[in-house]
Amino acid sequence: MKNTALTFRQAKEKGEKLTMLTCYDYSTAKLMDESGVNSLLVGDSLGMVMMGYENTLAVTMEDMIHHTKCVSRGAKNALVIGDMPFLSYHTSVYDAVVNAGRLIKEGGAQAVKLEGGADMAETVAAIVRAQIPVCGHIGLTPQSINAFGGFKVQGKTVEAAQKLLDDAKRLEDAGCFAVVLECIPELPARQITESLSIPTVGIGAGKYCDGQVLVYQDMLGLYSDVTPKFVRKFADCGTVMREAFRRYIEAVNEGSFPSAEHTFRFEGTVSARVS
Ligand code: KIV
Ligand code: NA
Repeated sequence: MKNTALTFRQAKEKGEKLTMLTCYDYSTAKLMDESGVNSLLVGDSLGMVMMGYENTLAVTMEDMIHHTKCVSRGAKNALVIGDMPFLSYHTSVYDAVVNAGRLIKEGGAQAVKLEGGADMAETVAAIVRAQIPVCGHIGLTPQSINAFGGFKVQGKTVEAAQKLLDDAKRLEDAGCFAVVLECIPELPARQITESLSIPTVGIGAGKYCDGQVLVYQDMLGLYSDVTPKFVRKFADCGTVMREAFRRYIEAVNEGSFPSAEHTFRFEGTVSARVS
């Protein structure tokens, strides 16, 4: 069954958990879609895990559209959410609607995500008016790294937690169908989740969120530049891949690959020569 912004809201009403994984390419999208994950987020985290940047700020609309296209072609049932990159929605509400529209029209996503709380409410409402479902994102919003002075857990004081709750409510009122809570202590994440009628999707926000999201390279052990506290390695694919690459190199060097089964037979006579 196709997951949509509507089924996301319904899942919360039914008390069902939601799963989301980041995804950036076709082959992985197919694997994830077959596994039954509810949503594939083409995150601007691709700047770090796919492109090797130190943070997400350099990611462009062209980068996002390119990867969103790849993921959309591989996702049958999962809801594809395209992340709006830094500065694609801050310059004006007009720019935000145009760029959100590009992720849908060109990228093939069914929804977009953008970072920010009350400050973004007007922008969210305008995108929603264009019939584009919007997922909010509050807490540690990586595009604010320079404003925050680094990647830090948010909402650790009563005042900060109250601000996050207010932000979440403003996003719900503006029309968001879901909101990502990133790096927030369990208690405020729980309070936000219980205060909203739209689902919360947590990453480093504890078990009371309505859903969870992880960067797939993190959960597969494929990215070791940074390993946040909230990551569980569900498989050590890094070791599996390194080992496979090593065995390939060894097999080529010792001449055991390619063997006869991997080699095409020449149909001519033995004396025939290819010049
Ligand atoms: O870009 C991303 O991967 C994200 C998730 C971590 C929520 O925004
Ligand atoms: Na992101």
